[in-house]
Amino acid sequence: MPVRSWFPTQIYCEPLQPKGLARFNAELAEECRRLRDFDAAGRRWSKANYPGGYTSYASMNELHRFSSTFAQLETRLLRHVRAYARALELDLRGRTIQLTDCWVNIMPPAAAHSLHLHPLAFISGTYYVATPPGCPGLKFEDPRLDRFMAAPPKRADAKPAHRTHVTYPAEAGQVILFESWLRHEVATNRVEAERISISFNYNWS
Ligand code: NI
Repeated sequence: MPVRSWFPTQIYCEPLQPKGLARFNAELAEECRRLRDFDAAGRRWSKANYPGGYTSYASMNELHRFSSTFAQLETRLLRHVRAYARALELDLRGRTIQLTDCWVNIMPPAAAHSLHLHPLAFISGTYYVATPPGCPGLKFEDPRLDRFMAAPPKRADAKPAHRTHVTYPAEAGQVILFESWLRHEVATNRVEAERISISFNYNWS
């Protein structure tokens, strides 16, 4: 075959741990809802910037430093982030990686999260805490989409890797990791229950 693929975009998806997820997620969900009740500044910010939903992105985004449950999540995420960095073949010898921000997203019915990326980080991701059946997944966009100016559309039966978008279903207990420049969005939640996730950023030094 004369055509070869280069410059892959890699996305990681794995369960946080093999067992004990239901209990851990129940603790996290309770803590996320308590945080929303407590975080008036976050609710105000969300009203303007995250319509219909609640996020602690702008108000309480270092939860791993203040909550033992979130600190446990940080500990459990580390092996996944290391595995992903190995898959990306990043040279982290003699360097350390740090979880810099970690925040809660609660999407009630009708909430959506428009297309964005995560500045000031190299690896970002989401951990799913509560995902009612039928809730929206995480949709990624081909990072070259804005350069396809004159390209015809892709065939409807194109291989998944050749399509311009891919959606990972949101499943409680799953960790999804991606490079922070990769744009993504969450479609409107059309089910009658809250979708809860925790997002985070990693940096290195
Ligand atoms: Ni995001």
